[in-house]
Amino acid sequence: MIDLLEIEKKLLTPHIKEGGTVVDFTMGNGHDTLWLSQMVGPSGKVFSFDIQKTALENTDKLLKENSVTNVNLILDSHSNVKQYVRDKICAGMFNLGYLPGGDKSITTKHETTLEAIVSATELLDFGGALLIAVYPGHKEGTIEGNLIEELLSYCDRKVLCCSKFRIVNSPKSPFFFLVEKSETEEKENLGISACLLGNPCRYNGKSKGLKEDIIQKLRIRYTLVPICPEQLGGLPTPRTPSEICNDRVLMESGRDVTEEYSKGAEEALNILSQNKCKKALLKENSPSCGTHSVYDGSFSKHLREGKGITASLLEDNHISLFSENEIFDLPN
Ligand SMILES: C[S@@+](CC[C@H](N)C(=O)[O-])C[C@H]1O[C@@H](n2cnc3c(N)ncnc32)[C@H](O)[C@@H]1O
Ligand code: SF4
Repeated sequence: MIDLLEIEKKLLTPHIKEGGTVVDFTMGNGHDTLWLSQMVGPSGKVFSFDIQKTALENTDKLLKENSVTNVNLILDSHSNVKQYVRDKICAGMFNLGYLPGGDKSITTKHETTLEAIVSATELLDFGGALLIAVYPGHKEGTIEGNLIEELLSYCDRKVLCCSKFRIVNSPKSPFFFLVEKSETEEKENLGISACLLGNPCRYNGKSKGLKEDIIQKLRIRYTLVPICPEQLGGLPTPRTPSEICNDRVLMESGRDVTEEYSKGAEEALNILSQNKCKKALLKENSPSCGTHSVYDGSFSKHLREGKGITASLLEDNHISLFSENEIFDLPN
């Protein structure tokens, strides 16, 4: 009968390069770490993560017994992988759930698992692959499985091909996802208002960050190119709010800042053009980034139909615009 564990390794093997860098995102007792270290050989590198000291101790012992020296054992959450791994990786393994033989109440959690998966796709080299094994036998495992499937469904099939392997008449048995990166295709670049990514660049020194799960869905599909046209135009943060009045941009104080707004728009266009962005996701209602509506120039919180200065310039240069209310129209 089928042994999914054997299939996992068979599917991952062709992606692992001798001398390459790989990550074990869930070290546990170190069996996958050991296998990965043997697969990349002494000239390769393995980074292995766990949040439990016992996992590191057990793995260290196993590696020493096998005279393995190419592994970095890291006591930290896999969601922080980018703080430790700078190279592109050819493979990554997630074996979710709890430490076998350990405390069953300490399991992987969807909040950090999803962040780690998104970061893993960003680290993945051309031709590389990730393997994510899910254990639906416990409550968090079922939640993780459903959310991972939803997240992976946002990947662009030409860039990251995501498959699922499951025994259909054994719903509690472990199953796994395989995420394979194309040999040639990179993610599409998407321009985005920096404040939507949580950058505190708005006039009041605050951000207007999208929800974390939405940002993860954007990151798994696109390489995000953040821009803040008002900062690019040389305006300070915080700054007095401005509105478009006829063909000028005026601060509430009466100061004419049309030049700064125009410079910011030009700079934003340069950055998006250099990055070959064909689309931009922009913050609605802003005098720079508004795509459908802006404040009407009376400083009385009334909106009118129209575009911000940057949005207009981007559209004139054939960049398709989307507001934060149209995120799910983006891939189409
Ligand atoms: C099913 S075990 C992994 C088994 C392991 N691959 C092996 O070969 O023995 C899952 C491991 O993930 C660890 N874990 C839980 N949350 C984590 C996190 N945020 N970052 C890294 N590891 C985590 C757990 O402590 C546990 O040891
Ligand atoms: S200019 Fe655009 S990116 Fe910058 S704070 Fe305003 S809406 Fe956000």
